[in-house]
Amino acid sequence: MVGIFVDKVTESLHVLRVDDIKVKFFEALWEIPEGITYNAYLLHTSEGAILFDSWKHVYTDEFIEALKTVVDLRDIAYVIVHHMEQDHTGSLPRVLEENGFKAEVLCHMLATRMFSRFLGIKPKIHAVKDGEELKVGGKVLKFIYTPWLHWPETMMTFIPGDDVLLSCDAFGGYSIPKTLYDESDNVIAEYLPHVRKYVATVIGHYINYIGKAVEKLDKLGIKPKIIAPAHGLIFRNKPEAIVDYYVKLASGIAEKGKIVVVYSSMYGSVGKAISAVIDKLKEKGFSPVVFRFTDTERINLSDFISDVMDCQALIIGAATYENNVFPLIRHLLDVLVEKIKAGKPVLVVSSYGWGRIAGSKILKILTGAGFKVVDVVEFQGMPDGDDLAKVRSGVDSLIDQIAR
Ligand code: FEO
Repeated sequence: MVGIFVDKVTESLHVLRVDDIKVKFFEALWEIPEGITYNAYLLHTSEGAILFDSWKHVYTDEFIEALKTVVDLRDIAYVIVHHMEQDHTGSLPRVLEENGFKAEVLCHMLATRMFSRFLGIKPKIHAVKDGEELKVGGKVLKFIYTPWLHWPETMMTFIPGDDVLLSCDAFGGYSIPKTLYDESDNVIAEYLPHVRKYVATVIGHYINYIGKAVEKLDKLGIKPKIIAPAHGLIFRNKPEAIVDYYVKLASGIAEKGKIVVVYSSMYGSVGKAISAVIDKLKEKGFSPVVFRFTDTERINLSDFISDVMDCQALIIGAATYENNVFPLIRHLLDVLVEKIKAGKPVLVVSSYGWGRIAGSKILKILTGAGFKVVDVVEFQGMPDGDDLAKVRSGVDSLIDQIAR
């Protein structure tokens, strides 16, 4: 049974939320057993209703039904498209068909060229300029261009007076929160790990644009009392909580003492070295977060990227495999360097059979992406006592680095 919620955020603004529990891989990529919500909004004015975004296409029937509980679709005068990704635009073709294409679609100029190819429709479109305002039925909508949160055409809407910021992807998160709103500190605390995972996987590549957007809102004097994103919780009790958390993640502030270990081990050589790493870390008072690729375990890449986002340091273990880095770690490194931009210190541990390949390749990939590799410890086959001493010394170097 799909969860659907329609509720009044303010006297004139409805939220329409669907809980997507069918999705397993967001964007066919990110493992999200916790699910995700799509939040659309409807503003009622004396000159017609204004729809902000919609739901993913698989929920079109449900969206139309939910929308009809709060508005006659032919009374929708404007549709605001903050972002063209289909998790927010998938249901729009049916909305506009049932509306008779009377509504004018407002979006950023870059989005205007996408409707026919992405959605197969040619609605009336007005490209809004950054800072443009729409005055309608006693309400003012101010459009703020916020590129790369999460595509280049993305914008937000601020409604002065109600002081609501409709922020689309930004200030959103994964999971199906039990409530629509940030009802308590516990609700927020339970939600934030899903926000971190969402920021790491979806926005990580564009992380610098979070700070730029927040600075822009500040300069415009926009201080929302309600932050209404297109995914996850609506913040109306502590709107600053979600903004501050986004800013913290974007500025690369790490959790003190948090160290992530990831490794692959086919027959136990890398595994033995990593056991020495973990023992040494524990001896020094750390509780590392460990991710393994072995013949009985396989990691969830989304959770790994999420944990790296706010860790202080990283330890990577991988063997040489067919003259290259072990394939699953190679893929993990591709994602890591695309999503994590904070230049964290790393220790590399690697085993080889005939030639030292993986260690130098990992070093090149990581240093090229701005990570600080403190040491690469390589050994042939199973590590011996000397190798394990080098591994422990590498852990000391890593700890020294984060203590600075
Ligand atoms: Fe939620 Fe970038 O779409």
